[in-house]
This record gives sequence, C-alpha cells and structure tokens, in this order.
Amino acid sequence: MFEIKERDGLARIGKLETKHGTITTPALLPVVNPHILTIKPAIMKRLGADAIITNSYIIYKDEALREKALRDGVHSIVSFNGPIMTDSGSFQMYVYGDVNVDAIEIVRFQRDIGSDIGTILDIFSYTDDSTIAKRELEETIKRAKESVRHKGEMLLALTVQGGVDERLRRYAGKIMSRMADVVPIGGVVPLMENQRYADLARVIIASKKGIEPSKPVHLFGAGHPMVFPMAALLGCDMFDSSSYIKYARDDRIILPEGTVRLKDMKEIPCSCEICSKYSVEELLEMEKEERVEKIAFHNLAQAFAEIKRVREAIRNGSLWELVERRAASHPMLMEAMEVIKRHKKWLEKWESISKKRAFMYAGVYSVHRPLIYRFNERIKKRYVPHFGETVFVEETRKPYSRDERLRKISKNVIVKSAFGPVPLELDEIYPVAQSLFPEKVDISTRRYARRMLNSLSFSSSYNWRKDFDMRKIISVADYQFGRHAGKYLFGNGDIKIVKSKRTGKIRNVYVNGKHVVSMRASDGFFTLKLEGAKILHEHFPFPKMRVMVSDDAEPFIRDGKNVFAKFVMNADEEIRPYDEVLIVNGRDELIGVGQAIMNRDEMLSFERGVAVKTREGLNT
Ligand code: GUN
Ligand code: ZN
Repeated sequence: MFEIKERDGLARIGKLETKHGTITTPALLPVVNPHILTIKPAIMKRLGADAIITNSYIIYKDEALREKALRDGVHSIVSFNGPIMTDSGSFQMYVYGDVNVDAIEIVRFQRDIGSDIGTILDIFSYTDDSTIAKRELEETIKRAKESVRHKGEMLLALTVQGGVDERLRRYAGKIMSRMADVVPIGGVVPLMENQRYADLARVIIASKKGIEPSKPVHLFGAGHPMVFPMAALLGCDMFDSSSYIKYARDDRIILPEGTVRLKDMKEIPCSCEICSKYSVEELLEMEKEERVEKIAFHNLAQAFAEIKRVREAIRNGSLWELVERRAASHPMLMEAMEVIKRHKKWLEKWESISKKRAFMYAGVYSVHRPLIYRFNERIKKRYVPHFGETVFVEETRKPYSRDERLRKISKNVIVKSAFGPVPLELDEIYPVAQSLFPEKVDISTRRYARRMLNSLSFSSSYNWRKDFDMRKIISVADYQFGRHAGKYLFGNGDIKIVKSKRTGKIRNVYVNGKHVVSMRASDGFFTLKLEGAKILHEHFPFPKMRVMVSDDAEPFIRDGKNVFAKFVMNADEEIRPYDEVLIVNGRDELIGVGQAIMNRDEMLSFERGVAVKTREGLNT
C-alpha cells in the first residue's frame, strides 16, 4: 500500500510498504548485478538506499544462482534484507534480441524467490511508429492480465509501454494501474540516452494522465540524477539506476548537472568519501577494477545526494525552482520545460494552495509555474472588482497595500506585478506577497505579464463603497472560495474585523458576533470556521467546495475526526490540496469543515491516508 505524506507539483514524499520494509519516495533503487557486487548493498543502504533492484532473468538463467535463489531466496543472493524489486528480462530482450523465457514462468519465478516487487515481462517498445507500439502494447497488456493471477503475495509492477504515442501511453496507464501494485513507465532508456528529454516529459505526462494517482510510479532505467527533479515533479516516485556503474566503467564522473570524463578533470567538485581521499591523478593511476569501484561509489553518492535534494525540495515546496535550475544545465532539458509549460492547466490540479517557502524567480520558465496560471485564472473567474473604474499602478514595495495612498483610492487599484495584474486587495495572499523577482525580469516574462494584463476585463462590480479592510476580506474570500463567497460571508450583518496588535494584520472576522474565518499570517488565506462553512454551504450549490463522505464515516467526522480517503464518495473537481472544504454526508448536509490534503482524483483513488483534515465537526 502506498500513502502520501508530503507533496509538491506531482511529486510525493510517500511510503510504500513491502514485506521487507517501507520505501520512502521519491526513491532511488540501485541496480545490483547478482554476479558482481561492485558496491555492497550494505554500503548502498548507508548512502540512502531503502531498496535495491536486481534482475530475476540473470538469476534464472544461471543454474547455480537459480537453485540457490529458489532455496534461500533472492535476499540471500544479494545479501540485502531490505525491500528488493526484481526486473524480468524485458530490457535484455530489447538489447540482445530473443530472450528465452516464458512471460508467466518469470513472474512465478520472481514470486518463488521471494521478491518484494516483481515485474512482468513487458515488451520494450522503442519506436516512433504507433502501429507497432500499439501491437506490442496489446501483447504487454495480455501478459499483465495473465501475470496478476500468479503474483501470490508479491507486489507486481505492470509496465506502461506505448512508444512515444501519447494516447497509447495514457490508455496503458489506465489499464495497468487498475491491476498493478506499482506502475513503471518503460521503454524510455533510449529517450534518455539520446537526451530526448522533451519526449521523455511527453511520455511521463501522458502516462500519468492515465495512471491512478494512488499508485506508485517507477521510471525504468532513469539513472542519471539530471532527470530526477523533473521526473519527480511530473509524478515519478521511484527510479532505478545502473548508470553509476555503467559510467564508472567508462571512467565517467556523475555530477548533478551532467557527466564528465575523469581524464578531462583536474579536480572533482565533490567531497564524498572517495573524492576526499583520492585525487584525480591517483584515481587515474589505479588498476581499472579498483578505479571502477571507486568511481561507482562516487557516482552513486551523487545520485543519492540528488534524490535527497529532491525530497527536501518537496518538503519545503521548492521543487519547481530546482527543476528550472537543473533545466538550465542542459539545452534538451530546456526543451522539456517547453512541454511542461503546455500542460500547466493539468499540472495546476495537483498544486498546493500555498507553500512553506516564498516563490523564487529562477528564470524564463518561472512565470509558467501552475501557481501563476492559477492566480491569473482565479482573478479572471473569481475576483469581483469593487468599483466601476480601474487604475493601473506600477509595482511598489510589498505588501502593496501598506501604501495608504493606494488604499484610499476609490477605484479598483490593479498593481502591474512581474507575473500579471494583482488587485490591491489580494496583495497579501500566496504567492503575491511571498514572491521574489529581480527588479528587471527577462523579456518573455515581461511579455507574459503584459498579456495577462491585457486579457483582464471586469464584467460587473460590487459598488458598495466599503473601506479597504472590508474590500480585502471580501476579495480574499472570492479568490479562495469562489466568486461571490465574500458577498455571502460579509455582504450583510454586523462585521467585526480583529487585527493583530503587533503586526496590524487582519486575524479574525466575526459576523453578528460569530467567528466565521481567521486569516493566516503565513499565506494570507482564510481558515474557515464552522459558522463560515454554514453560510457558504447555504449559498453555494452542490458540489461546490464539498467533500461528500459515506454514512459510516459521518459520526466520526461530526466528532471532529479526519476524513480518510477511503470514505470519500464524491468531491468538487475544483478542490486543490490545502483548500478549505465543506464536509457533507450523502444528503449534502453539512457535517464539518476542514482542509483538503488531496484533490478530487486523489480522494477517490486512495485507500490510505487523510483526504481532509477536519477542523471542526458539526455535532447535532
Ligand atoms: N528496464 C529499462 N527499461 C525497461 C522496461 O521498459 N521494462 C522493463 N521491464 N525493464 C526495463
Ligand atoms: Zn565524490
């Protein structure tokens, strides 16, 4: 079973349970050759490997190994007592031509040697011809369906193939993830070897669009750390790598931005155990075998450093930034950014409402992050201006509304920010106040901002002549909960705004003496109280803001317990991770209020984990 703990983009810090222990994702599984243990799995573990991957086909082919594996198990073959994933020989078949093994036989063999995660014998499709890719995919699907009947207690990985045909990939993702425990994306090694990163991004995105969000996704053969940040961002949870050893055999040094030949270096920019002990010269003078072992260690250490960097970036919400910085290290990775940019609408579904760290400009692609797309979309669809007339002002110090002159203007004040128009009332929400752009941004960002500005048009306005604080709470509610939420919440009744004595910022809002919302200092958004939820529930029709839970969960929610994903029956398509939501029963009666941890697709897919953190239950 797979459970998400933290997220950024489509990347997930997750826990995958296996019989030999838990794998924390994004995970790197080093490839171990059962014949030659160049680096011992115990050392891999110390570098950060939760799990390793080895090839069952190689074991199967060797009579002595096969007998030992069947007798003592695969864990004793490679001397590793953690989770072991096994591959099936598909790749060998692709590289060396016909491999003599039966598709079902090799799955049974993996089961019998005690593999934790086995892999089907999929057909490795590397072709730009969709007819061939389709034919091969049909065979892979046939094998997958048959293989699941023989998996026993073993988790089974059913590989998504389909060449570079996006429709085939999506279709494969859908079919495979219904039956699979783990869903690898296969057939991509040649794309990476030829640095076709744009095609790689296309293939990952298309596959992910079909794959159930609750399934862990493995990217087969993604060895170079250069692709980890981007692949993780697009939703790949596991990687396996033999690059560390393959490159070592060619005297090539892996670094986060690329690979360099040892003989072309004067010093290695690394302080791992090997690099702090040996100079380039000393390494070059070693016997080949010894040098390969030393470089392999360094390469693996670099790969794990990048995996840890990715996990840290997920934890503090800066993965987009890391991806953009890595893209700058290779022109073909830049091409992949062009592909990602075109999918921002889909990517936005998975993006959290706010992040721990400020939005940092990292280059020409920053403005294409889904968060900026969301901001501009919500301004268009949800923001209701307060006046009939509008003035545009140049960007000043943040937060913009500190400037009293701006607050006093009886017109809509729109600030021309680096990423587009920002209504003055929204100057404190994420990422407006929590963003850092250089004073002079690049020309394409400027063009983007201008385009957003030009596409802004208001069809109606409130025209209530309310003061700035009132306008602010109304607009934040509109932006956060939906068009006119501010009118429903604060449009009538006796409104009391309580501010922080220390910072002067809005903290709580009361309507007719009832506490309806609090404003978070960290991201400028509201947390919704039960009294506020009642108002929105009354005015917004189903399914707006709703998470509908099954009858058996109702008493627990009313009691203030969290909503687990397996109890969610339906939810609003517009809910994003960390959005405020109305928890309702099957008859759309309000039973609680809370903060979503998942979007709708995830709530309906996951069987494990919290879908909504309940803030207050409505006890009858
Ligand atoms: N190793 C690298 N690529 C692949 C693939 O597409 N399928 C399998 N089973 N193993 C791989
Ligand atoms: Zn090193």
